[in-house]
Amino acid sequence: MKFNWNYPTTIWVGKNRSDELSEACENLKIKKPLVVTDKDLINLKFVKHIILELKKNFNELNIYFSFSGNPTGDDVEAGVDQFRKKNCDGVVAIGGGSAIDVGKTIAFMSCQTRPLWDFEDIGDYWKRAYEKKIAQIIAVPTTAGTGSETGRASAIINKKTGVKKIIFHPKMLPSIVILDPALTKDLSPRLTAATGMDALAHNLEAFCAPGFHPMADGIAIEGIKLIKNSLLKAVNNGKDLNARADMLAAAAMGSTAFQKGLGAIHSLSHPINAQFNIHHGLSNAIFMPYVLTFNKKKIEKRIISICDYIELEKSFESFLNWILDLRKQLNIPHKLSEVIDEKKINLNKLSKMALEDPSTATNPSKMTIDDMKILYQHSISGKLF
Ligand SMILES: [Fe+2]
Repeated sequence: MKFNWNYPTTIWVGKNRSDELSEACENLKIKKPLVVTDKDLINLKFVKHIILELKKNFNELNIYFSFSGNPTGDDVEAGVDQFRKKNCDGVVAIGGGSAIDVGKTIAFMSCQTRPLWDFEDIGDYWKRAYEKKIAQIIAVPTTAGTGSETGRASAIINKKTGVKKIIFHPKMLPSIVILDPALTKDLSPRLTAATGMDALAHNLEAFCAPGFHPMADGIAIEGIKLIKNSLLKAVNNGKDLNARADMLAAAAMGSTAFQKGLGAIHSLSHPINAQFNIHHGLSNAIFMPYVLTFNKKKIEKRIISICDYIELEKSFESFLNWILDLRKQLNIPHKLSEVIDEKKINLNKLSKMALEDPSTATNPSKMTIDDMKILYQHSISGKLF
């Protein structure tokens, strides 16, 4: 047996704890932070408040926000330029997955001499990096989904090829994470649902992935339970800060757990996200029951083993029905063809991309290109396995 287990970082949890950002910088000896935040957020009251508070404690506060929602290598480069020109010494990333991914990558690239793509998550490419001067990162998520705040990688698009690449280095893990439910209370029901289903997909796929990782399994089960208890509450009443806190925790836990691996939900989703600009959480939610039933033979026992704990009748079907019912209540369509024009779907191309996706290796059942094709076909017709 040979396994590497990596566990997350310092996490400050609670309402209004984003007011403690200056203290977090002080703890990490960051004297000149670069704040990285989405351009859609910069004018919102709560981000303005955070920036005003930070300005009280720092003579000079640099802010980088001119990057796209699907960040590219050029976006990272522009941020690194600003970081270097202004002699910044740390990153405060505030926002959804893209802001946190960009912030983490700027901090990492601030001291590298090689180009970004040399650090793609392949083999031990990460060992090429100069790591002593990687700037420290504080992450403050404003959505509860990707869990990038507790992850050691980021997803950045290579504009030349149009492909989303994963950039990885262990020191891209933020040193302090602040989970402040007050920051997520105005997230729309639609985005709360989609991001929440991404967090569920992370916990669920991690739990079902093969491999000996009881720590990840334990986190994933608790993550699933939090989502079962709180996702609908957060969607139906965004101001329910207890539900919002549960969802932030579940998202951070999902990305912690999925170091064990993901599966075909993500393999099928990534090509759809890249080709059709469909929200990642939404496509995960659509594919979830098809992949669950496809994997049934391999995962049935494991799923039944957690039913008691998450207060479901002890059967695979009751778990499946919970997912189907949850999707319905969240207004998530059952079929892929409800969000994409069927005629535009190139099954061969998508299936090849899905098979080559890094998540495929840890799907409980071994996948072939025909399996991917069949899964896409079923998700178009609506037929479960
Ligand atoms: Fe995901």
